Amino acid sequence: MPRVLVVDPLSPEPEIIAEAARVLSAGGLVVFPTETVYGLGARGLRPAEIARIYEAKGRPAGHPLILHVDDEAMARSVASVWSDRTAALATRFWPGPLTLVVPRGAHVPSEVSGGLATVGIRQPDHRVALALIAAVGEPLAAPSANAHTHVSPTTAEHVVRSLGDRVDLVLDAGPCPGGLESTVVLVDSPLRVLRPGGITLDQLRAIDPDVVDGTTALEGDAARAAPGMAAKHYAPRTRVVLARRHEVGAAITSARTAAIVATASGQSDAAACEPLIVLEDEPNAYARALYAALHTADAAQVDLIVIEAPPENDPAWWAVRDRVQRAARD
Ligand code: TXA
Ligand code: MG
Repeated sequence: MPRVLVVDPLSPEPEIIAEAARVLSAGGLVVFPTETVYGLGARGLRPAEIARIYEAKGRPAGHPLILHVDDEAMARSVASVWSDRTAALATRFWPGPLTLVVPRGAHVPSEVSGGLATVGIRQPDHRVALALIAAVGEPLAAPSANAHTHVSPTTAEHVVRSLGDRVDLVLDAGPCPGGLESTVVLVDSPLRVLRPGGITLDQLRAIDPDVVDGTTALEGDAARAAPGMAAKHYAPRTRVVLARRHEVGAAITSARTAAIVATASGQSDAAACEPLIVLEDEPNAYARALYAALHTADAAQVDLIVIEAPPENDPAWWAVRDRVQRAARD
C-alpha cells in the first residue's frame, strides 16, 4: 500500500500540499487529482524523475507525457513557439481538459515527449493540482495514474489497485469531476484533435472552423505522433463487447456477464447480469461514471462485460464513444 493522504478538493490543506511538494522535490512520485482523472506526477524537467514515471507505469519510452502547469506563463516557458492560436486556445479553455501539443522548448528533456520535437501541455482545473504545481514551482509531468493499457483511475482506490506501492504518495480528493481524459490537440493549421475529451469539436470550431478529427484511422507518422491512440488502451482485462441499443440481450453469451447500460430496454435485457451497472443516459454524467463502472465490472470475476453503445453520430457523446470503442477493441 502506498501512503495516502486525504485532501480537500475545494480548499486543499496547505500542510498536505507542502508535504506532497516535499516528496516531489526529493525526486518522488506523487499521484494527484485533476478534473479529468488522477495523474501520476513527477517533476517534469528532470530526466531521472521522468524515467521513474515510465517505470512505475510500465509505459514504453516512446509514449509522450503531458506537462501540467499552473498558468500560461509556465506553459510558455516550456514551449519553443507560442503562437497567437495557441494563446487563444489557452485563454479560452484553461484551466480545463485541453492538452495543447506545441513545439518543445530547448531545455525540456526529450524523454518527456518520448523523443518527439513537440510537448503536450495543460493547466488542469483542479485546486489540488494547481496548488501542488505552484508549491513545486515547476511543471509536473503526469500520465493517467494507471498501469500501462489499464483503465484510467477516477478515484484514489483505483490508483492503489493499479499501481500499489510503485508510487510514494497518493493525494485522495475523492472522485474526479470530469471522468474522461483531456482532449489532446496538435496546434497546427488546421488544428488536429489527437484524442477526444472534455472539450468538444464544436467548442474548438469557435477558434478554428477547419479543426480536423485526427482520431480515426491513424497510420504511420500520425500514429507515432499520438501513440496513446494507436495502441490498445483504456481497456479492462475482461473481454468487452459493445452492443447496439436494443441488442444488449443478444450480446450476453455467458452466464457470468457484467453489463453497463443506460436505457430502460438495456436494463431489462441485462436483468440477469451481475453486476448490472446503470449509468445516466446523458453524456457528462455518463463520462463521470464510466471508468468506475469499468473498474467495478473488471473486478467482478466475470467472463464478459457487455456495454450498451452510446448514441452514434451525436457530437455530445464523442469522447464517451471513443473510450467505450477502445475498451471493446481486441
Ligand atoms: O486528462 C488527462 O490528460 C490526464 C490527466 C492526468 O492530465 N492525463 C493523461 O495522460 O491522460 P496520458 O499520458 O495517459 O495520455 C496522454 C495522451 C496520450 O494519448 C499521448 O499520446 C498524448 O496525450 N500526447 C502527449 N504529448 C504528446 C505529444 N507531444 N504529441 C502527441 N501526443 C501527445
Ligand atoms: Mg493514460
